[in-house]
Amino acid sequence: DTMEDKKSQVKAFINEKGQIADSSAFAREMGWDHLVFVGVLKSLEAEGQVTSTPMKQEGWKLTEEGEEYSKKGSPEAQVFDLIKSKGSLAPGDLATELGEVGKVGQGAAIKNKWVEMDKATKTLKPATDSIEDTIKQDLLSLGGLAKDKLDALKKRKMIAPTSLTAYKVEKSAEFSMDAAKAVAEITAEMIQKGTWASAKFKSFNFNNASGLHAGGGHLHPLQKVKTEIRNVLMLMGFEEMCTNQWVESSFWNFDSLFQPQQHPARDAHDTFFMQNPSRAQDLPMDYLNSVKKMHEEGGSGSIGWRYAWSEDEARKTILRTHTTAVSARTLYKLGQDYKKTGVFTPKKYFSIDRVFRNETLDKTHLAEFHQVEGFIADRNIGLGHLIGVLKDFFARVGFAKLRFKPAYNPYTEPSMEIFGFHPTLEKWIEVGNSGVFRPEMIAPMGIPEDVSVIAWGIGVERWAALLYNVESIKELFSFQQDLDASKRNPLCWLKRVEVEE
Ligand code: PHE
Repeated sequence: DTMEDKKSQVKAFINEKGQIADSSAFAREMGWDHLVFVGVLKSLEAEGQVTSTPMKQEGWKLTEEGEEYSKKGSPEAQVFDLIKSKGSLAPGDLATELGEVGKVGQGAAIKNKWVEMDKATKTLKPATDSIEDTIKQDLLSLGGLAKDKLDALKKRKMIAPTSLTAYKVEKSAEFSMDAAKAVAEITAEMIQKGTWASAKFKSFNFNNASGLHAGGGHLHPLQKVKTEIRNVLMLMGFEEMCTNQWVESSFWNFDSLFQPQQHPARDAHDTFFMQNPSRAQDLPMDYLNSVKKMHEEGGSGSIGWRYAWSEDEARKTILRTHTTAVSARTLYKLGQDYKKTGVFTPKKYFSIDRVFRNETLDKTHLAEFHQVEGFIADRNIGLGHLIGVLKDFFARVGFAKLRFKPAYNPYTEPSMEIFGFHPTLEKWIEVGNSGVFRPEMIAPMGIPEDVSVIAWGIGVERWAALLYNVESIKELFSFQQDLDASKRNPLCWLKRVEVEE
């Protein structure tokens, strides 16, 4: 059928019955895809022949598994059939024959008392002569099912909800079975012959036209996520640190963090070293000497790392591997302020910016990525506060549940990896790392001894990938990025989730 044929069929139906009460039922009856019907409807509406009212319809459809079970029978029925045909079967053989279906079906078949375990032979035997596979029957007649049955099928992931906008279609005042075909454009011929005066023109369809895409700049998804995170942290009272130094000295990136010079992270395999300039110039010498002393001999109750610290190693220039280098610089400034004024002001700081690692690129690893980092420096704070702040922050950006795992960092003790429960993926993912900065790190900076600094660092890309539903972070941030996808992406912010008490 052509479009015009379909339009005539729709008009004939409306002419006879007065209306189409439910376009989805109509399309099904005609054997058309509903989208095809919508095309016909829009065309008739443009001609002014009909009017329509949208109606949202919620329904259910079979999942891939559901589809399979509706043909082969439910897992428990498949298990029963197999065991019945064999007389008896060991659970191991059941799994070999039916795979996942065998595993799922075995439990349900036992619960239904269709099969039972023979304790003596450790095999499964039929416990009844025949069964009625109500699951299969239900899957074949979703339309008439009661809510509890639908819920049960959904829970077993055999069906999934669908929603469709169907239409009620009625005649308009201009409805006419023999209306001249409306034309979309005026032609030179129509003007010459004067036929334009009696022609019927299609009206403009402003509702359905998406219009030309406006060119120009677009916000990058990652930029949107960064802005949102920045807003959340500002609301929580954090100040932003200055992050413009991508090229950093090993000193600020590692040594100031009490990371020993033999540490594997300082290897060229993990860190990008700069060739020109290859050494950093301006390092505060007093502080440098305190750091040297801490590495070599210790202090503040520590025995240090006990090796000959090399100033040349510390001066090597690198691309910073974490924004903890930024935190170190900021903390050093706080220490210097304290030395000058004798007053220590508690502070909450954060940063969001780029870091670099010499990584093999894959779906979840990039050589450059972004970190959100933060610290709180105050008296009488510890791990409990750190957990509290992280829970608060993550709840505001969509992770209501957090778990912490003990970890190791050269500069924090104790240290905790942070895992968040992703509400739509329904699984735990590692989101960051955190801890309490060690005295060996903050004492040489001049931070008073009774001040503790709790801190954390989080990778942004993996999050953003989850939020924007992209499978590989390379699609989001690399030369493989799909620029069109960023253009099409709506300006959407992170969802806020209620915090459970
Ligand atoms: N620097 C750590 C990282 O890159 C994160 C971190 C920051 C851990 C602050 C503890 C404290 O993974």
